[in-house]
Amino acid sequence: MNILTSHSPEARSSSTCLELENVTIRYGRQEAVRNVNMRIPSGKVTAFIGPSGCGKSTVLRSINRLNDLIPGCTLAGRVIFQGHDLYSSQIDPVQVRRRIGMVFQKPNPFPKSIYENIAYGARINGFRGDMDALVEGSLRQAAVWEECKDKLAENGLSLSGGQQQRLCIARAISIAPEVILMDEPCSALDPISTGKIEDLVRSMRGQFTVVIVTHNLQQAYRISDLAGFFNVIPSSDGFSKVGVMEEFGDTSQIFNAPRQDTTRDYVAGRFG
Ligand SMILES: Nc1ncnc2c1ncn2[C@@H]1O[C@H](COP(=O)(O)OP(=O)(O)OP(=O)(O)O)[C@@H](O)[C@H]1O
Ligand SMILES: [Mg+2]
Repeated sequence: MNILTSHSPEARSSSTCLELENVTIRYGRQEAVRNVNMRIPSGKVTAFIGPSGCGKSTVLRSINRLNDLIPGCTLAGRVIFQGHDLYSSQIDPVQVRRRIGMVFQKPNPFPKSIYENIAYGARINGFRGDMDALVEGSLRQAAVWEECKDKLAENGLSLSGGQQQRLCIARAISIAPEVILMDEPCSALDPISTGKIEDLVRSMRGQFTVVIVTHNLQQAYRISDLAGFFNVIPSSDGFSKVGVMEEFGDTSQIFNAPRQDTTRDYVAGRFG
């Protein structure tokens, strides 16, 4: 089944975009995260927070099947995107990644012109419309048009780190995905560039469902509607550790009225 063709306006407007049911992810025999359950609503910004090694990136990558590219990485449970189990044998992971885009920690523009950074993906996805307009619109939406408009033929790698990251966001949104995943997109950026990306993420609300991993608690508080707190706990074998999601809810509740003591300690900056 091609999930592209199953997309309907009704599906898009339904309130749950993604649902993780009892998701356990292993690298080889080692469990990385256990029994993650959550419902991510459409059009909202959801942040994953928690100490290093608790599985935030692992869970994020499972949402667009990027872990498939890691040998030995397996997933049990279900990841449901608009009613479809993304790990069912009928689903094409390439189509999944078209509808669920990703922005990485380190900006990774193609070593091509700024223009081609947008046009290339659009072309291979079959875009037949006005390419100049798509390039301009994507760069404008990612708040990097003014800095790029006079040098569209220059290499994307010639931009500053913050501009490169906004170019990568422009590239991600240019193919009109429904979900954009971001793994610490600001951690390599200065505060001004970080502020621009935060404004951008806020502006994406409504049009996109955004799931963002961040170590910056203030950032999570500023930009997210919902937050999931992940933690690392001792595994039942007594030797290893495993990641779990300890709490999920509205960001204001997670930060101002956490139900778990560990969440309270984490958001208060007592560990991690
Ligand atoms: N490619 C991999 N192969 C084997 N184990 C891995 C791999 N990637 C992650 N892990 C393990 O899975 C667990 C979760 O890692 P993950 O990178 O998801 O954590 P994280 O919460 O994103 O951490 P950080 O905040 O440091 O980025 C860790 O124990 C890690 O060592
Ligand atoms: Mg990570």
